[in-house]
Amino acid sequence: MNYRVPRTRKEIFETLIKGLQRLEYRGYDSAGVAIDGNNTEVKERHIQLVKKRGNVKALDEELYKQDSMDLKVEFETHFGIAHTRWATHGVPNAVNSHPQRSDKGNEFVVIHNGIITNYKDLRKFLESKGYEFESETDTETIAKLIKYVFDNRETEDITFSTLVERVIQQLEGAFALVFKSIHYPGEAVATRRGSPLLIGVRSKYKLSTEQVPILYRTRNIENVKNICKTRMKRLDSSTCLHAVGDKAVEFFFASDASAIIEHTNRVIFLEDDDIAAVADGKLSIHRVKRSASDDPSRAIQTLQMELQQIMKGNFSAFMQKEIFEQPESVFNTMRGRVNFETNTVLLGGLKDHLKEIRRCRRLIVIGCGTSYHAAVATRQVLEELTELPVMVELASDFLDRNTPVFRDDVCFFISQSGETADTLLALRYCKDRRALTVGVTNTVGSSISRETDCGVHINAGPEIGVASTKAYTSQFISLVMFGLMMSEDRISLQNRRREIIHGLKSLPELIKEVLSLDEKIHDLALELYTQRSLLVMGRGYNYATCLEGALKIKEITYMHSEGILAGELKHGPLALIDKQMPVIMVIMKDPCFAKCQNALQQVTARQGRPIILCSKDDTESSKFAYKTIELPHTVDCLQGILSVIPLQLLSFHLAVLRGYDVDFPRNLAKSVTVE
Ligand code: G6P
Repeated sequence: MNYRVPRTRKEIFETLIKGLQRLEYRGYDSAGVAIDGNNTEVKERHIQLVKKRGNVKALDEELYKQDSMDLKVEFETHFGIAHTRWATHGVPNAVNSHPQRSDKGNEFVVIHNGIITNYKDLRKFLESKGYEFESETDTETIAKLIKYVFDNRETEDITFSTLVERVIQQLEGAFALVFKSIHYPGEAVATRRGSPLLIGVRSKYKLSTEQVPILYRTRNIENVKNICKTRMKRLDSSTCLHAVGDKAVEFFFASDASAIIEHTNRVIFLEDDDIAAVADGKLSIHRVKRSASDDPSRAIQTLQMELQQIMKGNFSAFMQKEIFEQPESVFNTMRGRVNFETNTVLLGGLKDHLKEIRRCRRLIVIGCGTSYHAAVATRQVLEELTELPVMVELASDFLDRNTPVFRDDVCFFISQSGETADTLLALRYCKDRRALTVGVTNTVGSSISRETDCGVHINAGPEIGVASTKAYTSQFISLVMFGLMMSEDRISLQNRRREIIHGLKSLPELIKEVLSLDEKIHDLALELYTQRSLLVMGRGYNYATCLEGALKIKEITYMHSEGILAGELKHGPLALIDKQMPVIMVIMKDPCFAKCQNALQQVTARQGRPIILCSKDDTESSKFAYKTIELPHTVDCLQGILSVIPLQLLSFHLAVLRGYDVDFPRNLAKSVTVE
């Protein structure tokens, strides 16, 4: 939204659409915007909604088809909202897409990221009061609820943020919400609980403060039925943020920084239950309860992210760009942390907690999807270097089991986005049980990085492709670095540590060598792309490679693919093998080599025709291979970083050959902020 920064409607559209495109990786089954209608007289503004099934491009085209929209009309103050959806309740169509509205007159409109778990009760209550629903979404309940609160207000001068405050008292579940209303023209209110939300601030004038103080209500709000009877103390807004001497300021609300980085790198990360309001060029933040962090203000932070990092450059897809970035991204993960001269590792975010971690009785490493695979991949080396029992857990299953967690456990939460709902809930579960919590994320300011006691930022740079690639290799390295730091004093482990650190040093070069196999892998994809199934088999350090490779294949090619532990072959999967079934086997020169040879024999004995990912110097496996992809050799526990890359490339080429949009696979979202 802009204050005294005149913008034409066309510019407003462009800002909203560009922002949505940057966020499209989060959801892309339908999209919508709400902007002020044609009348520029502030008092008489009405809200115009445009919604469309399909991706953001479809919405963009639709906007320009609307006859009633004068593109040149200029606004000195304007607040527009836009949303791209990943359906949780209700099929993807225009009616179910956001913004959702309170009524046919669009008095209140809202966009929502998250899931409202008590929406059925709220809907029933509102229907009993005569409110008519048009969509199947949980979000529409919020739009109707704010109108209900407004219709039943006890004073005429109730503020927009008070309405929102009363609304969120009734909501259960997770949400990031932004509201717009014809009753409060030029004002915006946003709030969050569980889902991420930040505010970008752009002004060419000096800001009055770098810290926005939190204002608290003096009286607590009573719950549910008394919702409209409670009187609030008016807030003193003199402590808000605004530009000195002028209101020439623009505020951007977004789920993540990539949506706004081309406008500003100055951002405020909101915390759960913060209610941020912008009116008359001023931003104020208030809350009903003290915040979890107990921080009395929200700082304006300067982000290091650059626009170029979130552009595709010469690549045809973000995923492809991110695969090819890995020589640099793994280097950035280690930069300033691994000292190759002294063979030491220092993770600044953990050093103050190291003593406590060393005293713990076990490590629990928790994540979802690819992040979980990074935990599986490093489990063995962590067990070896920390000499502790290590549990690796899928966040959802960990919660389903009510897994016992103790004060002397150390729990790691691995998450690229730092926002995955299941992982975040597991974090809160472990915090409640007083375990020490460690975040391993790629997103500065994310919920997981803020709510954990300490952590490691993997520094892989923004990852946009829904199928995670460079985050995996950087998570892998971060966990190895943690193991190295833990074992610094263990005399018996010094040789091993030196070997691993030496291996880390040469990784960027070796990754380049693997990437140079791209053409060969493309040729392999040409042979495989019409198949329905693809098995990926391995064991030991490379079991995770198989799980991750198979996940990449199913995510973006929609082929059936399974990562199989070669040790389990004879207990079931062998029944799938015949001369038609494509099988990839990962066989590296490591302690499992001989056992992998057994598996290879079992496969060839059933006329299977294995494509083998093997070490360059492996003459044995290649004798039985239908095809080989030869990889450079590194330390056994790091080999998984090299062996996963051909599978990333293969899935990419298969998806392209099958005609699918690599960056936007059907039914998936990059960041799953719902349970
Ligand atoms: C989603 C994505 C996956 C990702 C997983 C965990 O399912 O589609 O690519 O691995 O979430 O995400 P996180 O951000 O927690 O690593």
